[in-house]
Amino acid sequence: FVEHREVFIEHYGEVPIVKGSFNDMPKNVQAWVASKIDLCKPRGVYICDGSQEEAETIIHKLEERGTLHKLKAYENNYICKTDPKDVARVEGLTYIVSHNKHDSVPHVRPNTKGILAQWMSYAEAEKLNMDRWPGCMAGRMMYVIPFSMGPVGSPLSKIGVQVTDSNYVLLCMRIMTRVTPKVWDVLKKGKGDFVKCLHSMGSPRPNQRKVINHWPCNPDKVLILHYPEERKVTSFGSGYGGNSLLGKKCFALRIAGVIARDEGWLAEHMLIMSVTNPKGQEKFIAAAFPSACGKTNMALLTPTIPGYKVQCIGDDIAWMRFEENGELRGINPEAGFFGVAPGTNEKTNPIAVQTFQSNSIFTNVAETEDGHFFWEGMEDKISDDTEVVTWLGGKWKKGNPEKAAHPNSRFCTPAGQCPIMHPMWEDPKGVPISAIIFGGRRPEGVPLVLEAFDWKHGVMLGAQLKSETTAAAEFKGKKIMHDPMAMRPFIGYNFGKYLDHWLEVEKPPHKVPKIFHVNWFRVDSTGKFLWPGFGDNIRVLDWIMRRVDGEDIAVESPIGLLPKKGSINLDGLGEINWDELFSIPKDYWLADIKETMKFLDDQTGEDLPQVVRDELQKQADRINAM
Ligand code: GDP
Ligand code: PGA
Ligand code: MN
Ligand code: MN
Repeated sequence: FVEHREVFIEHYGEVPIVKGSFNDMPKNVQAWVASKIDLCKPRGVYICDGSQEEAETIIHKLEERGTLHKLKAYENNYICKTDPKDVARVEGLTYIVSHNKHDSVPHVRPNTKGILAQWMSYAEAEKLNMDRWPGCMAGRMMYVIPFSMGPVGSPLSKIGVQVTDSNYVLLCMRIMTRVTPKVWDVLKKGKGDFVKCLHSMGSPRPNQRKVINHWPCNPDKVLILHYPEERKVTSFGSGYGGNSLLGKKCFALRIAGVIARDEGWLAEHMLIMSVTNPKGQEKFIAAAFPSACGKTNMALLTPTIPGYKVQCIGDDIAWMRFEENGELRGINPEAGFFGVAPGTNEKTNPIAVQTFQSNSIFTNVAETEDGHFFWEGMEDKISDDTEVVTWLGGKWKKGNPEKAAHPNSRFCTPAGQCPIMHPMWEDPKGVPISAIIFGGRRPEGVPLVLEAFDWKHGVMLGAQLKSETTAAAEFKGKKIMHDPMAMRPFIGYNFGKYLDHWLEVEKPPHKVPKIFHVNWFRVDSTGKFLWPGFGDNIRVLDWIMRRVDGEDIAVESPIGLLPKKGSINLDGLGEINWDELFSIPKDYWLADIKETMKFLDDQTGEDLPQVVRDELQKQADRINAM
């Protein structure tokens, strides 16, 4: 391993460049990296080349150190356990920094705590940064990661450079993005713009804090800042994926959202999938659900009704742009899946299970004595006396009431290994989107599927999205929270302006897709799901596709168009309580629309587009007249 060499060919000041060539990087990247070396004071700089050899070297090192543990039942699968204080995104410590506050956050009403992005001033950010970054990589290696979001060189793609002192982050970035020095050439040939992504675990040597699980982090000082004006992200103190794989939420949603507004496109928290029906007709569908509400499962769905085929483009993020001919086309900027492990099994999501049989990293899952991964939902795979080691390192057997895996434990696996990736998933032109779906976890009141009356009503449906909280972020317990457009944690600019942007794309020659809302999570009076979900969701997708084709299978209701009774294929499902699944209790909706109007008015104030206000009022009037 080159680190042990006596003489380094290149140095930056006293700091050796242990791999790669500093001088081969574009000049503006050199200048930026140099300033970070000066600031963070690493013991060496490692410029990544994305090669297989590089992965093997790093994995080997992490295994020796104990950070990674090989799952011996598979090929090249590893477990990583984090410090138990570093297991999810931290929305409360995530901010947008801008010169003008209201570029980032709406004019909330007095005495309202804004939850649609948090703003921080440059002065405050500077103060907090000075208490964190200087010397934060002392005794550690600085990895420089060149990556492309989207296929390298595609006109829809964007380039980033991440600097990090975590080699776990490096390994996951290699799965989730396209890490390659080819991006240097793209930068040198083009305008040279790249998104600057700076990350540190915030744990310089000698360690100030007891390191747990070989996971040096700094939970007391976590701070994730976005500077849209400078296309820059700084993330300190956490190694959890959503906080540390900066290509994902920070760049591809928060920063890209601002770029998208400026350039007239959309960066959304959406899967993209293709569905082909028995007649051979194919449609591409984008769907936005909050974190841990079913995107990955839907993107990899195995249809339960014969003759349907699903193929995947992406499972978490969509970049979409209207073409000159008016078509909306989308790409998946990522290259891997960072999926929720619990609940994933051969019945619910066989495609995911096939995908992560090799070359994957599992974070905070449990392990069986014979070297298999294990989590809640896999009980059928083990016998009563199989010994399991939990994510916390304790002994566990079937029937033990404790959770074996953390509820937000994740698999990180290359999308290219997924058996149902669409042949066009890396097509630089993207795929044509013909429907947009919103959805959330709504145990009560909300029907299985409904269709918006038109684009404006659809934008309002997106804006009023709510869902039960999940383990993907720091909130405890289950409560229904607003999550407009499934973007609450990922908004990069004033949410009122974001809604304006959505409304403004409806103009000639743009062909705006139909918008739908789904809910797989409604329960009956005993708390049982009314809908089987997973592969059976194809039945709802089939209805949606037929609606896109204009089939007469919908009826008006005060809240949108509902399926005509019997128009969803329920063959072979056994008993489904249609009336309960589609009921829209007046009291529930009266209270809901009132609460939603207040929420959006409090949170967005004068920035809430009049069109959305009008749509809310019309919806309220229709519900009142029920
Ligand atoms: P994502 O975070 O939005 O990608 O959500 P996932 O697809 O990873 O799913 C999150 C959790 O919801 C997992 O535990 C799934 O098993 C569960 N889930 C996903 N789809 C369904 C569904 O259709 N019905 C039910 N009941 N649960 C689901
Ligand atoms: P998810 O992605 O949407 O698949 O949960 C991670 C996240 O949103 O934190
Ligand atoms: Mn997500
Ligand atoms: Mn997912």
